[in-house]
This record gives sequence, C-alpha cells and structure tokens, in this order.
Amino acid sequence: MTEQSPALDNLLTESRTFPPSEAFSAQANATADFYAEADADREAFWAKQADRLHWDTKWSQVLDWTNAPVAKWFVGGKLNVAYNCVDRHVDGGHGDQVAIHWVGEPGDNRDITYAQLKDEVSKAANAFESLGLTAGDRVAIQMPMVPEAIFAMLACARIGVLHSVVFGGFSPTALRSRVDDQAARIVITTDGQYRRGKAAPMKVNVDEALEGAESVEKVIVVRRTGDEVPITEGRDLWWHELVDGQSAEHAPQAFDSEHPLFILYTSGTTGKPKGILHTSGGYLTQAAYTHHNVFDHKAGEDVYWCTADIGWITGHTYIVYGPLANRTTQVVYEGTPNTPHEGRHWEIVQQHKVSIYYTAPTLIRTFMKWGNEIPEKYDLSSLRVLGSVGEPINPEAWIWYRENVGANSAPIVDTWWQTETGGIMISPLPGVTATKPGSAQKALPGISAKVVDDQGVEVGKGGGGYLVLDKPWPGMLRGIWGDEERFRDTYWSRFRDQGYYFAGDGAKYDADGDVWLLGRVDDVMNVSGHRISTTEVESALVSHPTVAEAAVVGATDPTTGQGIVAFVILRGNAAATLKSGGDSAGQDAVQELRNHVAKEIGPIAKPRQILVVQELPKTRSGKIMRRLLRDVAENRQVGDVTTLADSSVMDLISTGLKTGK
Ligand code: PRX
Repeated sequence: MTEQSPALDNLLTESRTFPPSEAFSAQANATADFYAEADADREAFWAKQADRLHWDTKWSQVLDWTNAPVAKWFVGGKLNVAYNCVDRHVDGGHGDQVAIHWVGEPGDNRDITYAQLKDEVSKAANAFESLGLTAGDRVAIQMPMVPEAIFAMLACARIGVLHSVVFGGFSPTALRSRVDDQAARIVITTDGQYRRGKAAPMKVNVDEALEGAESVEKVIVVRRTGDEVPITEGRDLWWHELVDGQSAEHAPQAFDSEHPLFILYTSGTTGKPKGILHTSGGYLTQAAYTHHNVFDHKAGEDVYWCTADIGWITGHTYIVYGPLANRTTQVVYEGTPNTPHEGRHWEIVQQHKVSIYYTAPTLIRTFMKWGNEIPEKYDLSSLRVLGSVGEPINPEAWIWYRENVGANSAPIVDTWWQTETGGIMISPLPGVTATKPGSAQKALPGISAKVVDDQGVEVGKGGGGYLVLDKPWPGMLRGIWGDEERFRDTYWSRFRDQGYYFAGDGAKYDADGDVWLLGRVDDVMNVSGHRISTTEVESALVSHPTVAEAAVVGATDPTTGQGIVAFVILRGNAAATLKSGGDSAGQDAVQELRNHVAKEIGPIAKPRQILVVQELPKTRSGKIMRRLLRDVAENRQVGDVTTLADSSVMDLISTGLKTGK
C-alpha cells in the first residue's frame, strides 16, 4: 500500500518504556480518568474544556455536525479571543506577570508583562481600526520573531480581522500568491531581520512581492534592524508612528464562536498552497486544553518555551493562542540556535529557568551532532517537560533528548498534529503515559484517531495503514480559503463512506495498540518539520528556462528527516552546453537551479541534490513513479519497474548517474 521509507520501519523495533515518576503524576494536570470521562460523553467533556475560556455569551449547543465536514463548535457562543489571551489575566490581578521574555538574537532583551501586552495589543487594534479595517478583513504578516508580530496577531483577533502569517523565509513570489489568494488589505513586516548574527533585509522583499498587488492598501513596517528601507509614500507606514501614539484603551467586541480567526497557508499535493481556515471558540478551546494538559502547564509557576516560528501552526497554537489563553510566562527567541554559539538554547533555558521546552526532532538531531558537551555546560535542572513536534522522532534522538536535556526524568511528549487539526491530537499525557521512544502513542482524551486499511477498515494490533480522524474535534479546520471543493476532496473523499478525515500520514499500531506515525503517504515532503510539496518544487524548477521536466522526491536525511532530491531533464541547448562544458558547467547549472527554487519558494525548499537525467520513469498513463526515484536518491536497489511505460528508463538513470552523463 503506502510508499514508506524502509528506514522508518526500524522505529517499530523499539520496546523501551518510561513511566512518569510518582511525584510527577501526583501533581499532573491530566489524570488517567480523562480518557474514560471523554469516552463516556465527548461533548460534555469538550464543554467542560470550553469553560477554561471567558464567553460573553454562553453557547447553546456544543457541536453541530449537520453540515459535515464543516463543523460548528459551541454554537451561539460569543467571545473575544484577544480578551481571553490578554485582558482577562490583567482583570484577574495578574497584570504584573511576565507574558513574554523576549530574547533578541544580538543579545537585546525585552520582558513584556500581561498589562503591557494589553496596552500594546489595544494600541495596535486602535491603529488598525483607524486604517478602516473591520471584522472579516484580511491582514498578511511577514515578520521575524519580534514582539510586534504577536501584538499584530492579537490585535487582528481583537477586532475580528483574519491574520495570515507568512513565514519570513518565504520568497516574494510565495508571499504574493498568498496575499492575492486572500485579497489582504494590509501587510505588516519589518525593515529587516537578524539571522545568524547578521541583519538581512525583509521590507525590500515585501516591496518586490507587492508590486502591482491590487488588494493591498497599506504596508506597516516595524523597525527592527534600523537599516534604511525604501518607503512608498501613501502606502507605507512605520509601526511606531502609527501605533505608539494610539490610546491604550480598546473595548473588545465579542464575536461568534465560529467567527474566522486566521488563515494559514500550507503545502498540499498540488503546486498551489492551501489557505487553511481556523475559527475562534473551538480552536481556542483545543489550544488551551492541550497546552494545559500535554505540557502540564502551571500558570504563574512554569516558564515555557516553544522554539517554533510564528510562521507555522506550532507558533500560532503553542506560542500565541494556547499559552497566552493559559496565562503562561514564556520565552520567545528571535534567532537561530547556533548564534552566537551552539549553546544558545541552553544558555536561555538556564537564564530564564525554562521548565517546559517544545521543539522539533530536526533540531534535536542537530544538537546531537554538535555534541553532548554543549548542553552539559549549562544548568538545565529547571526543565520538567519536553515536547517534540513536526515529524517522526527516531528513538536515538528521543533517548538523547531524555538523557542530555531531560536529566533522564522529564517526560517527553511526542505530539502529532497538523496545520489542519489546529492543535495536538495524538500525544502521551506526561503524568499518565509510560512513554515510548518514537511513538506518539494515543489520541488525547476527547480526540479519536484510527489506523485503517485501503477500505477504511481499522487494522488490528501490529497492523499498518492510513491515519484517519473519525470524529470531529473543536480545533479542526473549517475549510480551505475560497476552495470548498478542494477541502472536501483533499480530506474527506478518500474515506467518504465512513466520513473520516484523511490525514495523509501512514501509521501503525504496535502490539500494545499504540500509534506510530510513519510519515506522509502523499506527495508532501517533510524537511526539518516543514511541509513542502513535491509538485511545488517541480513547478519552480520547470519555470526555469533551462529545465524541460522535473521530478522531486523526499529522500531520508539523517538531520532534516527528509531532504529534497530533484531529477531534471534539461532543454536541448542547456543539455548540450552542459555536455561540452564538463563538470564545472554542471555544477554551475545545478547551483543556479537550486538558487532559482529558493527564489521562487524560499530557501527552505532548496533541493539538497539535483540530478540531471535523460529520462524520467513514468507509468503508461504518464504518472511519474517517484517511488523508483526515491530508491535512487536513497541509494537502494531499484524496486519493481514492471508498471513503467519503458522499463529500461531506470537503467538509463542509474548508469547515467554513475558515469555522470
Ligand atoms: O506528517 C505529519 C508531520 O507533520 C505533518 C503536519 O505538518 P504541518 O501541518 O506543517 O504541522 C506541523 C506541526 C504540527 C503531519 O501530517 N508530523 C507532525 N507532528 C508529527 C508528525 N509526524 C510524526 N510525529 C509527529 N509528532
């Protein structure tokens, strides 16, 4: 069935388990009876979780699934998401508690209390309203990890405007397509950003992206690096000039529970990214519930740090909405983990006494590479819960994390979820579950997931298949922006008869019935925890004048999980020049193509390797057989070629690569 990488099968030989200590369990937020409670009455369970929030109007119905697959949660309820994340903590007497310990890459710091956060968000909300923004409008945000990015998101939420954060590493072309798709009225950015100890431009890329963009009325620029930037009169505004003088009083209005909160674009199996739509009440409920229980967070005591970027869903749910709804004190770090040295994260943990740390396997593997002696130099004794997200974590990395970061005692929660699910779905509960290196284990209380075969029938213990979510959940996406058909098609058509949500991941049950995630089964790659579609990279490659055809696969990579490997057929002239130019011409051509992809999509999509070939393996119906190319990319014996239109193609590719032709 699924085209799994054989490397992932090794995961399943892992049999060690690590129960939580009695002391941890005794103080844990979540207890084992949550599962039974949720099973007995799911809606009552979720209603109880929604009570974590402040509702201006209480809902009349927990779930309305009559218009499936578009759910309505907490029907009739009204709330203001920003009020829930900010004001109510001030109203509750916690205005002086630090919300954000912001750590700039060059070493500057800023501590922001909840009272200050309330002022900043209110001022920004007043500023946005002064520009004529009203509920339902869209604002695109492309910013590094500066506090204003969080202020901007919350200010949008406060006035019912949808934000759409675009990762800072995305190219102008990628930003533009997202701005156009949602017809954003305003774009917010910074002059530049600090990356690896240097100031890099940001605003000029935004300018390039927005050339002729019809929907955009204003561009708001936050000053970060102080580098001079071109200003377009009448369109561009400095954040400090626009926001700082505004009143810090802003009355939050209550919006319907299903009022849209944000759009976040993610890669699908076609070249066009999908604008995933999330709404308010259900999303915030799941964000707060999962953050409270999966991380065992204690307001006013813990110091939490999620290392994600706000450009991804993890940053939305586990930096902005979940933690702030739960009155968290958290670290937000602007920069890269090895600037100015490879101990930067541990230095921050030590300095701020971080107790909950949430990161991605790719970074854990990088820390392993840098060496045990680096974390050893720091006092990490404050850490009591560790999290992992974004891709399967291999047992070696899991054990390293436990031993070198968690002092052999902090529970590790391996959290499986997606942009589409809004919040964590499958994960151990730190005071309950005996954890297993490499397995996300069990759907959370209130969530239901299954591993099924091609027919949608649940497989037994030891069996493998597709991961589905068989019951609606509060944080679920409510659609793809402007494309309902694609929404139904992508997630709900594969198991239409059963009404299951198809996650696109392969999974297995082990002998205990625990779930092991095995990576994507569609044409989506996972590079350093970032989702990138093969088709998107292929489109970027063929948009280069020298490329006739391209096929892209994700090949197993020891650090990044998967690496992008591209096979390209060059056009006649380019191919001839390459032949006569020898090795260096080949290297130049390949470098140029790598840069071209970075320019079209962003540096994260740069292929690790580009192989120039004469032919691509295709079925008789013309479909590229990526499975065979993955065999080549991973240096394996090439698999079954009988369905190829021309079975000699693989020989040609393999010999061509060996001889360099
Ligand atoms: O393949 C799964 C993988 O990341 C995909 C979702 O990517 P994205 O929407 O960008 O969200 C990432 C952060 C939530 C999933 O379909 N994935 C995510 N977490 C895990 C994972 N794979 C295995 N184990 C995980 N813990």
